Amino acid sequence: MIETINHTARYIRQRVEGEMPQIAIILGTGLGALVDHIEEKQYIPYADIPDMPVSTVEGHQGNLIFGTLAGRRVVAMQGRFHYYEGYDMKQVTFPVRVFQALGIKTLFVSNAAGGMNKEFKVGDIMTICDHINLFPENPLRGRNYNELGPRFPAMTEAYDPGLIAEADVVAQELGIRLMHGVYVGTPGPTFETPAEYEYFRIIGGDAVGMSTVPEVIVANHAGMRVYGISVITDLGGKDVREVPTHEEVQAAAAKAQPNMLAIIKGLVGRL
Ligand code: HPA
Repeated sequence: MIETINHTARYIRQRVEGEMPQIAIILGTGLGALVDHIEEKQYIPYADIPDMPVSTVEGHQGNLIFGTLAGRRVVAMQGRFHYYEGYDMKQVTFPVRVFQALGIKTLFVSNAAGGMNKEFKVGDIMTICDHINLFPENPLRGRNYNELGPRFPAMTEAYDPGLIAEADVVAQELGIRLMHGVYVGTPGPTFETPAEYEYFRIIGGDAVGMSTVPEVIVANHAGMRVYGISVITDLGGKDVREVPTHEEVQAAAAKAQPNMLAIIKGLVGRL
């Protein structure tokens, strides 16, 4: 496993011109347009990268993009690997391991999520302050490589408190309504039943989605600082009978995109 990761990282180092970044950004639904803000872009299609899985879901492309954002060197993942697509947890989190080998210190993750918090509205954005892992498998299950991280990593500050606070400052300066909440990570691909949304709210969740948690666990194992942000694309609960669709999720995410972009760009610029 270590040899595979290092082999992939070596390929990327050889291919990329300029300084290696210390910041990585996983572009989920609703953050795709961040790519337009990256300057001096160099694209590496996943298909060219040894041992990189290839993304299958509609609306997701597959490229690593190196460049400059808000004056900082960054690498962005255009397209991520979801557990529901059939990838195993090692594949889902492989890019984060490659980031670790490349020397990434801070990881930004974004996603679309369904809201259970009764204060939330469609189109709200939410800083992820904590998560509840409901995936059937932990990505760290199996042999632990001490050179990658500890056997029993703490998840007490899985989302960096300093970055959470900084995001609030950025949001306030820009006049953006930025919620805080707990993200529930589920395997998908079904959206929740009304009873499931209700259950996730009762156990402490504010939003639910099908990604992010595996990558965040591995990033913490790797010692990275993490900032996560969700766009609330639909609402669910006992009294909510709206039926979320993929198209609706995409449309709500597109609308909230400028605010999410501004937060990420503001944060990156302050690092
Ligand atoms: N549930 C799970 N994943 C999601 C949702 C949802 O309601 N909305 C967007 N991604």
